[in-house]
Amino acid sequence: MIEVNCSPEIDTKKTVGILKEIARDKMGGWLTLPRKFDMGEFMRIKEAAKKINEESEYLVCIGIGGSYLGHRAIMEALRPKSSTRIIYAGNSLSKRELDYALRCVGDHDFSINIISKSGTTLEPAIAFSAFKRKLIEKYGEEEANSRIYATTDKKEGALHDEAVASGYTRFIVPNNIGGRYSVLTAVGLLPLLVAGVDIDKLLEGAAEAVESAVSPATKYAWMRYALGQKNYDTEVFASFEPSTMYFNEWLKQLFGESEGKNKQGIFPASVIYSTDLHSLGQFMQDGRRNLFETIIDYPTDETNAKVVQAVRIAHTDGGIPVLDIRVSSFDEKGFGELIYFFELACAVSAKLFGVNPFDQPGVEAYKNELKRLMTKE
Ligand code: PA5
Repeated sequence: MIEVNCSPEIDTKKTVGILKEIARDKMGGWLTLPRKFDMGEFMRIKEAAKKINEESEYLVCIGIGGSYLGHRAIMEALRPKSSTRIIYAGNSLSKRELDYALRCVGDHDFSINIISKSGTTLEPAIAFSAFKRKLIEKYGEEEANSRIYATTDKKEGALHDEAVASGYTRFIVPNNIGGRYSVLTAVGLLPLLVAGVDIDKLLEGAAEAVESAVSPATKYAWMRYALGQKNYDTEVFASFEPSTMYFNEWLKQLFGESEGKNKQGIFPASVIYSTDLHSLGQFMQDGRRNLFETIIDYPTDETNAKVVQAVRIAHTDGGIPVLDIRVSSFDEKGFGELIYFFELACAVSAKLFGVNPFDQPGVEAYKNELKRLMTKE
């Protein structure tokens, strides 16, 4: 069970109201997802993963933002073993990166998992077209189509339409779950299973958190809000396990996109210690005092645990509010719990700041501007 070490003042009536609002929200599907997972979809994910493992040395996972960060976070953290390696593409517009990914796959057998809820995001669309070309050149159109797995909207969008027309195996991003809350849907589960992650355990951890995370998550949300009201405008997520760097990235997206609206929210930043104690440590200890630190305290070895202790004491002495989130286990169950905990905490926190946790008008603004510029050319 997740533990947090703070005791902010909590308005219980307001909290209950917020939880009810989230449960009623048309984008609140993630709240009950771990307990109500569509078992038909779950079995299809298992079948597809088995087929991919049997016939592919590489699975190219194409997606960006919420369609990518969550599963990469768990994969990097747990370093599972599998006969199929995962290659990521479509998470930038760099041609250099795309060419590198194409070179990595080389002549190996591969399949593609294209993940895009809207089906129209430019970064994944460009990478998909390059990898699809490679797939067709290697296997011919019919077999290529059988090696494409599309995770997208159930009913609409360019990717949905293409998947139906070409007969790709399809998985659904439920329409009541937004990108950054979607890691426990097929968005994350298919690539994670292919990579060797135990997704039953992951969902089990999340399902347990549906009840056990409510109290710590709301406590943490109220603490963030209280600090925000005192002009602490930056939260630094600190982890002492280098393999969790992408989990920090997922956190930054979750909080940044959910809270940063109407000139509100706390800016999410991250560090990996002790590495970053030798670069950002000075600032953390003695720089401008507008930030607080949230230690994600994974179970770790004895020496590393001493570093955690030292940082906690030194930074508190340096005048930084230090919060502690204690994670129960460094495995699938622990991460399932942690994901649910942060999703809930983030939604409650955004509501406390008076913004909608589930939209992203700023991201859409960039997407539309880019499309306009590209169309012009
Ligand atoms: O959380 C979000 O909604 C965004 O980060 C999206 O996941 C991201 O922009 C990618 O969108 P899509 O899945 O539609 O390609």
